[in-house]
Amino acid sequence: MRRQVAALLFLFISLCPPSSVGGQVSYTVPEEMRKGSLVGNIAQDLGFDVKRLQSGKARIFTGDSAEYIELDKERGFLLIREKIDREALCGQTTPCALLCQITLESPLELFPITVEITDINDHAPVFQKEERRLEISESAVVGSKFMLEKAVDPDIGLNGLQSYSLKPGDNFQLKLHGQADGSKKVEMVLQKALDRERQEHISLVLTAVDGGEPQMSGTMQIHVTVLDANDNAPVFSRPVYKASITENSAKGTVVTRVSAADADKGSNGEITYVIGNSMDSVARQFHITENGELILNGPVDFERARSYQIDVEAIDRGGLSDSSKIVVDIGDVNDNSPIISTISKQNSIPEDSPTNTVIAMMSVNDPDSENNGQVQCAISKNVPFTMKPSSNGFYSLVTDSDLDRERASEYNISITCCDEGVPSLSSSVTLTLHISDVNDNAPVFERSSYEAYIVENNTPGLSIFTVKATDADWNQNARVSYILEDSSVNGVPVSSYVSVSADSGVIHAVRSFDYEHIKDFHFCVKAQDGGSPPLSSNVTVNIMIQDQNDNAPQVLYPFQTSSSLVAEMVPRSADVGYLVTKVVAVDVDSGQNAWLSYKLQKATDRALFEVGLQNGEIRTIRQVTDKDAVKQRLTVVVEDNGQPSRSATVNVNVAVADSFPEVLSEFTDFTHDKEYNDNLTFYLVLALAVVSFLFITCLVVIISVKIYRWRQSRILYHSSLPVIPYYPPRYSDTLGTGTLQHLYNYEVCRTTDSRKSDCKFGRAGSQNVLIMDPSCTGTMQRIQNEKNILDEPDSPVEF
Ligand SMILES: *[C@@H]1O[C@H](CO)[C@@H](O)[C@H](O)[C@H]1NC(C)=O
Repeated sequence: MRRQVAALLFLFISLCPPSSVGGQVSYTVPEEMRKGSLVGNIAQDLGFDVKRLQSGKARIFTGDSAEYIELDKERGFLLIREKIDREALCGQTTPCALLCQITLESPLELFPITVEITDINDHAPVFQKEERRLEISESAVVGSKFMLEKAVDPDIGLNGLQSYSLKPGDNFQLKLHGQADGSKKVEMVLQKALDRERQEHISLVLTAVDGGEPQMSGTMQIHVTVLDANDNAPVFSRPVYKASITENSAKGTVVTRVSAADADKGSNGEITYVIGNSMDSVARQFHITENGELILNGPVDFERARSYQIDVEAIDRGGLSDSSKIVVDIGDVNDNSPIISTISKQNSIPEDSPTNTVIAMMSVNDPDSENNGQVQCAISKNVPFTMKPSSNGFYSLVTDSDLDRERASEYNISITCCDEGVPSLSSSVTLTLHISDVNDNAPVFERSSYEAYIVENNTPGLSIFTVKATDADWNQNARVSYILEDSSVNGVPVSSYVSVSADSGVIHAVRSFDYEHIKDFHFCVKAQDGGSPPLSSNVTVNIMIQDQNDNAPQVLYPFQTSSSLVAEMVPRSADVGYLVTKVVAVDVDSGQNAWLSYKLQKATDRALFEVGLQNGEIRTIRQVTDKDAVKQRLTVVVEDNGQPSRSATVNVNVAVADSFPEVLSEFTDFTHDKEYNDNLTFYLVLALAVVSFLFITCLVVIISVKIYRWRQSRILYHSSLPVIPYYPPRYSDTLGTGTLQHLYNYEVCRTTDSRKSDCKFGRAGSQNVLIMDPSCTGTMQRIQNEKNILDEPDSPVEF
């Protein structure tokens, strides 16, 4: 029956219809009912009268649980005492029921009551955090999953969390996985690749919804930051960069600047520049800075490289790169002097080298370009050389006129080459060239001819004098040797008179000369150098032999015997000055040495005679008287004028008588006095014979000489006649310096008849002068001269 009541109550109370099964009453109420809201009419449901409730001091007992329900004893209703939150009371447990008991006293009765709390949609799904930040690399692959937070909704059933949604859905999609506890795992799956460079930040909204009525939802912001990946390489702004600098630019010069861009961010976009030609010299010449400036590292030389091709690379941190090229053109600067290099050269050339003899080959070049490399060469002035250009940059240095070592034995040839740059650079070299000797100069004697004097009676081997010749050549070519040229003097080879020292040119007398034998001679000396072939020249040497007073005068008349009976007759009638006789003496010396003077040394009667100092004439100086002795004896001294002088004495017998017998008688006594026993006649005959003989001898000699001369002039060089070692005195001196000598000498020959002794031969000497001729033909001319004299009919010289 109670179940029926409860069923009825449930029907009446629409919202929470009570149930009473076997005396147990159940009510169902939604949560969150206001305080005082009716849960159920318990009195009625239990079948009580309200009074019983009062009398029975009905109470509700809830145990230790909070008192959400109170009992209204007046009306017998159960009311909500406190708002019930199902989620707080039961959580997710269902069904959720409050178990309590109504207790009644008198009699004690217990009635259990169950109040079931139903859910209402009073909670929205809630995310624990309102936003979530995610960082995802742009390189994440499609299909990558990202776990998301779940939302929580304490409601249960339809009021609980039903589904999620994610917006916008370009890149990501939601994926839900059912789990064992009924909740769901929420994942976000990448379905389209990210690109930071296009969109760096993505905002998503995750929405969770429940199924209540009205529906409730919760959202969460998802901020995705796309992380950069190095997916972009650097890109150069140009494929080729061009730059130009002049050579010798300073180190550190900025040549150009390159730049590359990288779309990536951060380190992936950080670019470093690198020179790619790491192996070649470019890397040494240039370096590149972080910001792309190409800096000159070391000197660049146009002559070594006219342009550089530099591979440049831009690399980001991620290792992606781009490459480009820098072409650097180098401009020329006139920084090189011309370079003169001698390829071959001669240190010396002979002086007889013909013109155009090559002395040196040289190459001249200038590594600079254009005008800076155009070279002009010049050679020092006043040298007999010239530079001849041959093919490109080669020159030959050649002689352009004749050389003469004797004029210049050495040349310093300086060659200067200038380029045409501004300013011009130049360089020069100096070559020293020696001119070697060629035997092109003959020795030259210091004089055109030599004359030397030597005093006769020299010691053999005496050095007379020295000839000297010099040779302008050098060394062996100038080494002069002296050679005596073969010739003959009076038919004797000249070498038996003199010798010439080959080295020194000293001329030695080979023999002792006798002036009385030879007065002069000449010969030729040849000076010859040591060249090959040798050159030579000749000089004539005239040797004059000088007289020495080495001969005493010789008395020719009166003829002297040890016991002369010859006497000069003086008639008693002779006047004062009567010429008694003449002492005739000769001196084979010449000049002063042959200048004779006569003196009376002893006389029987000094007062009667005198002797002419110069002419040797003995004359009376007073009238002869009868008292004078018949027999007079004079001693005459003949003295020459040499130093010291030499002399001879002669005894002259004079008979002062008018008749021969008178004389004879006197002289017989005289003979007896002298103890000679030969008879007088014999002496007289002998004296006559001697005088005659002397005369004939003299005559024969003169004729012989004349014939000889005549013949010699006819067969001058063919004659083999022996030389008659006698010359008439007129030939004794040919120099014309001592004409005095001639006169005296001639006189000697003429005075056979002293009474006619006034012949004068003064002219002879002056005509007979030997003409000096250095060309060694003196002998011939002299002979010629003599011949003329001999042939001349009017000549005063007659033999
Ligand atoms: C050449 O030069 C050398 C060295 O400088 C010098 O001794 C010599 O006298 C010069 N010769 C001439 C001919 O100038």
